[in-house]
Amino acid sequence: MQYDGLQRQLEMFLTGMMGEVPEIPAGSDALRERAQAAMTPQAYGYVAGSAGNERTAKANVRAFDAYPIVPRLLRNVESRDLSTTVLGEPWPAPVALAPIGVLGIVHEEGEKAVARAASKVGVPFVLSTVSSFDIETVAAEAGEGRRWFQLYWPKSRELALSLVKRAEAAGYSALVVTLDTYLLAWRPRDLENGYVPFVYGDGLANYVSDPVFRAGLGEDPADNPTQTVLYFASIFSNAGLTWDDLAWLREQTDLPILLKGLLHPDDAQAGIDRGADGIIVSNHGGRQMDGAIAALDALPAIVERVGHRCEVLFDSGIRTGSDVMKALSLGAKAVLLGRPYVYGLGIAGESGVRDVALNLLADLDLSLGLAGLKRMSELGPELFRNSL
Ligand code: FNR
Ligand code: LAC
Repeated sequence: MQYDGLQRQLEMFLTGMMGEVPEIPAGSDALRERAQAAMTPQAYGYVAGSAGNERTAKANVRAFDAYPIVPRLLRNVESRDLSTTVLGEPWPAPVALAPIGVLGIVHEEGEKAVARAASKVGVPFVLSTVSSFDIETVAAEAGEGRRWFQLYWPKSRELALSLVKRAEAAGYSALVVTLDTYLLAWRPRDLENGYVPFVYGDGLANYVSDPVFRAGLGEDPADNPTQTVLYFASIFSNAGLTWDDLAWLREQTDLPILLKGLLHPDDAQAGIDRGADGIIVSNHGGRQMDGAIAALDALPAIVERVGHRCEVLFDSGIRTGSDVMKALSLGAKAVLLGRPYVYGLGIAGESGVRDVALNLLADLDLSLGLAGLKRMSELGPELFRNSL
């Protein structure tokens, strides 16, 4: 059985008998605390921080409490299987790594380490547009591992298209178009630290390597870092986009398109009507609209509206195996893991990402069995109801 939770527990206990505690804590709070100690205050503030009073970030995690699980017993759950399909492709587990920008501020190997870890664990990862290493470099590290590319749609269509074509050529098999970041929110931790990675040129790897960006800049980025950052800032996001722009993007590529950051069923429907293949319900981990609905609370209505037409994925607040079960029971086909893997990266690089992912999957495997279930297709609203 892949991702066997018992096996992983056993290994950790045996290691413990030899006097070693795990480098990567098994619980999500301890994981965050250890990462804080390993990271610079600025990088930690950027990763852990959210918009405004961080109410939405807290609500994301609390929302899971409203769905207590009622476990069922004596159902022979000896053999369990986490596999599923997403966009018609087999996945070994319903989990991928979320697109998270500028991982070079967390660890020198940044997205390269994440790509290697994801590939070894067998979970897909999504590369951010604002990554510290470029599309082609990260693809080479991923090898055969499944990878998707997340697009921040810039002001110029020509640049958007160039990024999409590079991702296609480098073997990324789907596009995740993030729609909730056409402005960057008011984030007090970053403002108080006077820090955002981009002004240091971090996170621009895909831009400075892009022919369209370079032509627009009109000089070699290496010759003028300040102008490069200013030019990036002027073209990075596009607050002028409308749903009709999406129809244009749909015509440019055969890659499946998933729209990320949706919270309203009408938006999900507008996207699917323009040819999108999937929806990722997400509020960006509470980093954008403070006061926004918890992502989990937005999930059921979107599934109800478009779930018969496309697959719905979910992120924002996944911390444990039972969180994954709850999101799937509310209709998500798979989830994206966010901050926790970044904390693993900060503590130990590639092996840290690997251990965070394997711990989550071990927890999922055990929690599934403890609920009395054996496979992903058995997850549904019955999980939450006492059927007596
Ligand atoms: C993000 N997220 C994000 N999303 C995206 O589409 N492109 C990006 O470049 C980034 N960058 C980014 C940086 C950091 C530091 C964080 C924490 C998040 C959002 C990410 O994909 C995901 O939606 C959230 O991380 C989910 O919230 P939790 O579960 O991590 O709290
Ligand atoms: C963020 C952007 C880069 O959340 O997605 O910081």
